[in-house]
Amino acid sequence: MIYLDNAATSFFKPVQVKKAVMNAMENLTANPGRSGHFLSQKTAEIVFDTREKIKQLFNAENYEVIFTKNCTEALNLAIFGSLNEGDHVITTSFEHNSVLRPLEHLKSKGVEVSTLFCNAENLPAEIEKTICKNTKMIITTACSNVTGETLPILEISKIAKAHNLLYLIDGAQASGHMHIDLSNLGADMFAFAGHKGLFSTTGVGGLIVKCGIKLKPIIFGGTGTEGTNLIQPTQIPEGLEAGTIPSIPIISLNAGVDYVLKNFENILKKEQDLSSYTFKRLSGLNFIKMYSKPNSKNVFSFNILDLDCMRVADLLNEKGICVRAGIHCAPLIHKKLGAEISGAVRVSIDCFNTFDEIDKLVNALIEINSLKMQSTQ
Ligand code: ALA
Repeated sequence: MIYLDNAATSFFKPVQVKKAVMNAMENLTANPGRSGHFLSQKTAEIVFDTREKIKQLFNAENYEVIFTKNCTEALNLAIFGSLNEGDHVITTSFEHNSVLRPLEHLKSKGVEVSTLFCNAENLPAEIEKTICKNTKMIITTACSNVTGETLPILEISKIAKAHNLLYLIDGAQASGHMHIDLSNLGADMFAFAGHKGLFSTTGVGGLIVKCGIKLKPIIFGGTGTEGTNLIQPTQIPEGLEAGTIPSIPIISLNAGVDYVLKNFENILKKEQDLSSYTFKRLSGLNFIKMYSKPNSKNVFSFNILDLDCMRVADLLNEKGICVRAGIHCAPLIHKKLGAEISGAVRVSIDCFNTFDEIDKLVNALIEINSLKMQSTQ
């Protein structure tokens, strides 16, 4: 089996993560932040430690970490928690539906949305031009889940700061795959997924929020605090984490972040080398239309000319190669690339992939293309 669908979720998890999950299942299944007994406290300590490790990874000392069930929920919390009728928000065609759909919903509630279709390098200038008197927020991804292109988040952060706007970064694809220094960026909110580049189980993501930022809750319920108050507390993190938090996924995230912290430079080097190799090999195939750019990170989308992307993914699947095909929940970037009807085949790698696997992928694509040629003769 060759797994090349790491942008959807990472398949290979470090052994430390697997051990942490087994240990948690056997010894730490208490509810943190609720009961006062020792098991609850012990679990709560690991949850606290995980928040600290996340802050360390993203250099986010003056930030709070709110756990959610995934990156989508974190983005929803940031978006619905900040925007009100009459506000204007600027976003881009690079975004995933986890940003585009909440914003589309908010349009019907009187929020104005400007979606910029320009290239990544022109985004800062276009954002600057689009800011108007009711602009409240800028939302961009750090890295496209379709092309692997990175956006100029430092320049955008500076613009947000200069105009006193909130800046929310979707870090689903960037986390664990590139250095993100929130203190240096000064971005206000950063959403992450645990199960991709941070190697946790599914079931946990989070929103990293600059201290002092206030958010409206989007989920109401028990917080383990102010039990007699029928009004939802809003203190961060408890007020915005209503209900039992996913402690076992969080414990797995603790081990995953630990692994990334200890191996980050090696991970980045391996991924950079593999990314360059993958781009070179794929773009060397003359029957392929490539949508990613040479500097793309880990994620490469393409089509075999005259062959449906779903068919290509099915044929790769028959050869034991896992990729994702279609629109990847990011319709606007496909529109920008002229692939909104066709969709695309997406190959996404991580540090556990090998050069040999990329060679096998390329050979499989050559074979699929030659079968296509035979069937059309
Ligand atoms: N957002 C994930 C992807 O790009 C699921 O596949």
